[in-house]
Amino acid sequence: MKVAILTVSDKGSAGEREDVSGDTLVEEITKLDGLVVAREIVPDERDQISAKLRHFTDDLCVDLVLSTGGTGFSPRDWTPEATLDVIGREAPGLAEAMRQASLKITPHAMLSRAVAGLRGCTLIVNLPGSPKACRECLQTIAPALPHAIEILTGAGGECATVD
Ligand code: MTE
Repeated sequence: MKVAILTVSDKGSAGEREDVSGDTLVEEITKLDGLVVAREIVPDERDQISAKLRHFTDDLCVDLVLSTGGTGFSPRDWTPEATLDVIGREAPGLAEAMRQASLKITPHAMLSRAVAGLRGCTLIVNLPGSPKACRECLQTIAPALPHAIEILTGAGGECATVD
């Protein structure tokens, strides 16, 4: 599983905050035997987020992109919209499962507007910004990831075209 991680954070991209969520995701992906081939930080700018998502999917052809941050209600939170700008099909079950599991941990989980979807052969999943929330959400969807990626990139499918 080839994975790219995108941290969406104004402070992180300005070097004013350490990217602990990105570190957490690398740790969790490694535990799942995935390979993190790219990791970047962008500010909460819709165009910059969607450009990076396109680069990871179209140029690097990763199986999975995980974004962290920018899914809440702040005026600068545009990650879900930037993701919707680039995906061809939504995969709502993943976002639903994360919210459902997270609601057992905190009522604030209902404030997440995270989306998941498919662009060509790549699955893109938005995760919340905090390291703790990232870990919890990734652990929720982890059992379904191998099968998701197998179907998405399977030999029977035509994976060269972008939706
Ligand atoms: N999900 C889990 N599992 N654990 C959490 O602590 N925090 C929530 C929610 N989802 C949380 C969670 C909070 S406080 C917010 S505001 C939203 O995710 C959006 O987070 P973001 O704006 O950092 O992306």
